[in-house]
Amino acid sequence: TLAATEMNGKELSQTIREELKSEVLQLKENGIIPHLTVIIVGDDPASRSYVRGKEKASKETGISSDIIELPSSTTEKNLLEKIEELNNDETVHGILVQLPLPDHINEQEVIESISPTKDVDGFHPINVGKMMTGNSTFLPCTPYGILTMLKAYDVSIEGKHAVIVGRSNIVGKPVGQLLLNENATVTYCHSRTKNLTDFTKEADILILAMGRPNSIHGEHVKDGAVIVDVGINRMADGSLTGDADFPSVAEKASHITPVPRGVGPMTITMLLKNTIMATKGMPA
Ligand code: GUN
Repeated sequence: TLAATEMNGKELSQTIREELKSEVLQLKENGIIPHLTVIIVGDDPASRSYVRGKEKASKETGISSDIIELPSSTTEKNLLEKIEELNNDETVHGILVQLPLPDHINEQEVIESISPTKDVDGFHPINVGKMMTGNSTFLPCTPYGILTMLKAYDVSIEGKHAVIVGRSNIVGKPVGQLLLNENATVTYCHSRTKNLTDFTKEADILILAMGRPNSIHGEHVKDGAVIVDVGINRMADGSLTGDADFPSVAEKASHITPVPRGVGPMTITMLLKNTIMATKGMPA
């Protein structure tokens, strides 16, 4: 068997972030400092770690950023007022509210309160609608990162059968839409799908985003398939693992993303890219 090409999101991210750094320098020469504000509500350790990663990557790229930490007892009204302030602050180009939010806050209301022009997550319904109709807008960071990685590794998408496992608003649904926009034939699978592996075996491009560690094995994938593993599962020993059983899947795949150093770094890189785009203003 041929060894699969590992699609290294960490390396690719470094290359892209170098390009982004020079874009930021150009903006600064014109007196414009890109600024991202991240809001986190509550003290979930995983969310806090993601937010710190986003801030660190911003600063390394020359993007100014700050984190607004609100207690889990924050009211929805309070959060909406904060967002309105940021919407009206010309020095803030990108606004990201880390999800999930506490149960007493209506997530959709919060997403809809962010100005679509500062919505670097691409979660606002106006931007979701533009993505769906194939118009230019902020793309959600993880799907955008996946598409960027497939293109960088010369994976052809047109006419291919893309099977998505997982239907979240953040990953599964939008990545299927982006692949459809690239002329793939798309199948969505999820927790209620019967005989899941009948579908995974038919995939030319298999996107795993269900959050079940090591659950897809070599026998469940087609020879030569392209595997994108979005799972970030923390194991009892503290290590991270994907949704794929990497060794057996890598034996059959033509391309595969590792976990970690795969999709994760690309997600953050696309956030940086969206923030720079928010600073420059969305092309019409
Ligand atoms: N929680 C998990 N992923 C994301 C993301 O991409 N953006 C935000 N805002 N919250 C998340």
